[in-house]
Amino acid sequence: MVEIAVIGGSGLYSLLDEVKEEVVVATPYGAPSDTVVLGEAGGREVAFLPRHGRGHRVPPHRINYRANLWALRSLGVTQVLAPGAVGGLRAEYGPGTLLVPDQMVDRTSGRVQTFYDGEPLPDGSVPPVAHVSMADPYCPAGREAALSAARECGWEPVDGGALVVIEGPRFSTRAESQWFAANGWSVVGMTGHPEAVLARELALCYTPVSLVTDLDAGVARGEGVTQAEVFEAFGRNVDRLRSVLFNAVERLPSVRECVCSHALDGLEGV
Ligand code: ADE
Repeated sequence: MVEIAVIGGSGLYSLLDEVKEEVVVATPYGAPSDTVVLGEAGGREVAFLPRHGRGHRVPPHRINYRANLWALRSLGVTQVLAPGAVGGLRAEYGPGTLLVPDQMVDRTSGRVQTFYDGEPLPDGSVPPVAHVSMADPYCPAGREAALSAARECGWEPVDGGALVVIEGPRFSTRAESQWFAANGWSVVGMTGHPEAVLARELALCYTPVSLVTDLDAGVARGEGVTQAEVFEAFGRNVDRLRSVLFNAVERLPSVRECVCSHALDGLEGV
């Protein structure tokens, strides 16, 4: 069983040192973004799934987040590292900043964000209604692993901050962006929700690793974001991001004792 997964963001379509197998995983929620590659990274078994599909075919608002998380869990995954491109909401968080958020703000609309919606599955079973805690949305052990990994790789990370997740696929207006910044939120992206919520609903550990590719439109010096700028900045940093992920994989605990692993404790019928 593979216990660790990396869900690769824009520009991260392959990761592993050594690929052992590529699997097509069917789920009750439909198809994941792509095949899952199983192999080795940082001396451990790792599953890799490109969030947008290889070649960036699936936009953020159309990603089948439920299928992606379900597929990984069905392979045995309990811990997920989730790198992603984000815009900086502070002048000091320019392109090339690595930030490990500790909070999340959902500004998406209409995305399916639960496994526990009482709707029957294709096999006729009906999931219960359940409410998980999201007070602290990310795995504390995973965050520590990512932060220590970045430091060891010589890339001083920003420890904490709120990741605002917008619906996309457009970027934010200046007014929206200024509002996010005025609230003290740190970075903005398009995929962190409902990914983190669904991971928690499956009691998986989930750790976002946010690579700033641009200054968002409302920030002083932020000129308005372009897609080309995002991809270019991601490409410039992808090798060191890969090193950080490898190093973080090595550091993830082999026995989980965090809140995430207890997310479903005491919930009836789950
Ligand atoms: N992904 C990368 N940069 C972004 C930005 N400025 N806004 C939303 N998502 C992003």
